[in-house]
Amino acid sequence: MLLLGASGVVGFHAASELRAHGHEVTTVSRNSPSVDFRADVTEPGELGRIVEKASPEVVINAIKPSMSVDDMEAGRSLAYEVNTLLPERLARLQMAMGFVLVHMSSDGVYEGKEGETYGEESIPYPQNFYTFTKALAEERVRCLAKRHLILRTEGVFGFDERHANFYMRMKDACLDRKEFPAAIDQFSQPIYGGELARLMRLLIEKGCNGTYNAVGPEYVSRFGLAHRLQGAMGWDCAVSQSFSAGRGMRMGRFLRVSTAKIEAAVGRIKSLESQIADLKRWENKNSD
Ligand SMILES: NC(=O)c1ccc[n+]([C@@H]2O[C@H](COP(=O)([O-])OP(=O)(O)OC[C@H]3O[C@@H](n4cnc5c(N)ncnc54)[C@H](OP(=O)(O)O)[C@@H]3O)[C@@H](O)[C@H]2O)c1
Repeated sequence: MLLLGASGVVGFHAASELRAHGHEVTTVSRNSPSVDFRADVTEPGELGRIVEKASPEVVINAIKPSMSVDDMEAGRSLAYEVNTLLPERLARLQMAMGFVLVHMSSDGVYEGKEGETYGEESIPYPQNFYTFTKALAEERVRCLAKRHLILRTEGVFGFDERHANFYMRMKDACLDRKEFPAAIDQFSQPIYGGELARLMRLLIEKGCNGTYNAVGPEYVSRFGLAHRLQGAMGWDCAVSQSFSAGRGMRMGRFLRVSTAKIEAAVGRIKSLESQIADLKRWENKNSD
């Protein structure tokens, strides 16, 4: 398998899970010292060269541009290049080479309106430029790549070497005894990277095809998640309430989705409590 974006929170856990279950994985990112291949896949010819050299049965696209979702509103050309054109190129390579294309997408393709629950068949209504580029990418992958898995996820937490995700930022703040602000008006179904990777592995191993919501079973605010993490990890720090509504960017703040389709394919998703316990076990094993 070829894993693009292996140093991010999704990619790191995917590589660990797949290797632990006997899959051979070649990992790629631009800058990380821990991957097999360092390359900027947006450079002309680079993507085709890497995929052709690896000649994989499965290509996993877990690349995200190195900019915040808020910055994508202004940095549209890079966001479009990485979030939409790169998956389109991968889908064209899939057509030519026949591998399974696993493409990471976002629950943000849904409107995220209070009181609604979104299934995979719900009509996308992205609220900002990031989620618009993700919805466009999905369409191109679906139209071009016969063998594909599109995983719509959200709120992935766990280890990442750049300390970019919610969990790592919160851990750093708590260890520095700094206050950590978390939104009380932004709800989703967060998932531990290790659990997302387990679901991805099972979908690949079972030969599933199509689009799946791949999130946790519990619908909580960012503030609620921060409290759950703080309690489980025993961090002594102040979590303050913030508001996403004043962020200056349109976003779906109530991302409640159905996980019935993915659970019918690969079985029950672990509870949030048990996912956090897995993360704690991982931390205990890997702390120096
Ligand atoms: N994390 C979430 O909560 C979440 C939610 C919804 C959807 N997703 C989707 O899941 C996927 C992975 O997200 P993530 O959160 O794991 O991202 P991330 O932590 O920001 O990691 C992104 C990865 O992409 C690599 N990368 C970026 N530009 C590259 C380039 N030009 N060439 C090669 N590698 C490049 C980065 O490596 P370098 O730093 O070395 O370049 C890194 O390995 C994305 O498609 C994202 O939209 C994530």
